[in-house]
Amino acid sequence: MSMPKIRSLRNQLVLALCVLVSVVGVVQGISSWQLAKAGMSALLDLRLEQAASRLYKSGLAESLPAIPSRGSQPERDIYVTVWRDDIATPYRSTDPALALPRDADPGFTTAMVGGESWRIYTLREPSMVIQVAQRSRVRHELAQARSLDTLWPMIVLVPLVWIAVLLVVRRALRRLTRLGAQVKAIDMTHFEQLSTSGVPTEIRPFITSINTMIGRLEQSIESERKFISDAAHELRTPLTALQLQADNLQPHIAPGNQERFRELQSGIRRSGRLIAQLLRLARADAALKADTLTRVDVSAVVVDAVAEVLPIALQRGIDIGADEMMGAHVYANEADIGVALRNLVSNAIRYTPDGGKVDLSVHVRDGMAWIEVVDSGPGIDEAQLPRVFDRFFRANTQIEGSGLGLSIVQAIANRYGGAVTLRNRTDGQSGIVASIGFAAVP
Ligand SMILES: Nc1ncnc2c1ncn2[C@@H]1O[C@H](COP(=O)(O)OP(=O)(O)OP(=O)(O)O)[C@@H](O)[C@H]1O
Ligand SMILES: [Mg+2]
Repeated sequence: MSMPKIRSLRNQLVLALCVLVSVVGVVQGISSWQLAKAGMSALLDLRLEQAASRLYKSGLAESLPAIPSRGSQPERDIYVTVWRDDIATPYRSTDPALALPRDADPGFTTAMVGGESWRIYTLREPSMVIQVAQRSRVRHELAQARSLDTLWPMIVLVPLVWIAVLLVVRRALRRLTRLGAQVKAIDMTHFEQLSTSGVPTEIRPFITSINTMIGRLEQSIESERKFISDAAHELRTPLTALQLQADNLQPHIAPGNQERFRELQSGIRRSGRLIAQLLRLARADAALKADTLTRVDVSAVVVDAVAEVLPIALQRGIDIGADEMMGAHVYANEADIGVALRNLVSNAIRYTPDGGKVDLSVHVRDGMAWIEVVDSGPGIDEAQLPRVFDRFFRANTQIEGSGLGLSIVQAIANRYGGAVTLRNRTDGQSGIVASIGFAAVP
């Protein structure tokens, strides 16, 4: 199967226009070269004809030397031979060694004389025959030199036009390239209508329909998000009632059934946690409201999160602490930062065996405030690592969880243009390094 060739509009245009310009250049060059050559040879012919008629009219033929020295004429010169009456040898000749054909037709002929091609003009009068000749080679050389000069403008112009084509096409398509980059940037969390200002009219219908599509996509994602949020919200109330009723019922359950009843209760609790996580995810996916943003002290959020899990950590003998705490502030909704961090800390505590260690730290790097959570748990299989941010993905099914925690963290990071990364420790110990970063503000 052959792969379809990837075509660039710009390259195609540039190539086509350059080939076109070159063809025009070559055709124009050839024709002007040939015209120049023809013009030159017409001029040289005219010179031969004029020389012959002058010689005849002025009677100067008589004054040519009767016995010129043989082969004394420069080779580019015009050779003259004058015949008279019926005498077989020339009456006068500038070079008697050159045997011009006396009986040539009147006018111009080209003939081989002495092994060379000659251009001959024959003037036939009753009293005399005047023949004027020039070497064809000399004529060619003269014409060639002149006509090559006519090629220079084309040789210079064609490459200049190539460059101009490249610049013009690139300029015209730059706007298109920019649009492409904008379209590429659109994703679930970032919907922005494309601007039509400065867009060529041919492209405008595309932009308008892309914009309509973006609008529809945004709407459908928003309504899906709203459905999840509403559903989770609606489910919360009956589930809370269910839990209360179960708690009230507990004393009345026969001792032999207590074990099964506790399973029922923990099932209810699990469902409650899943619904709570669903609600958080739906909230994290919602559009950000600018009026809820404040300057948040990152270390305060970290201290709160640690304080919150401290009882569980103590109970399980996990040493949790915050060591390196650089002062850092971000511009955000404080609850969002808290929710994101709590999910990371809860993972660290939950997946780390009893007696382990969890360390939190805050530092500012390249204008980003990073919160890092390092645990001493088993880490995650490298093959599964890329999927941990997927909704409902769980690498460890032994420990309870909904599989939504990291999706929530990622949604919150995206919401603020931040980033979240999860990797296995590389300091020789097992465990996970989870980091979440937001743009730092002074
Ligand atoms: N610190 C960690 N150590 C080991 N495994 C982890 C760690 N953090 C996450 N994981 C793995 O990644 C999976 C996805 O984590 P995520 O937080 O999204 O879901 P969850 O913890 O299962 O559920 P939830 O957080 O909603 O209760 C987890 O099931 C777990 O297998
Ligand atoms: Mg989790």
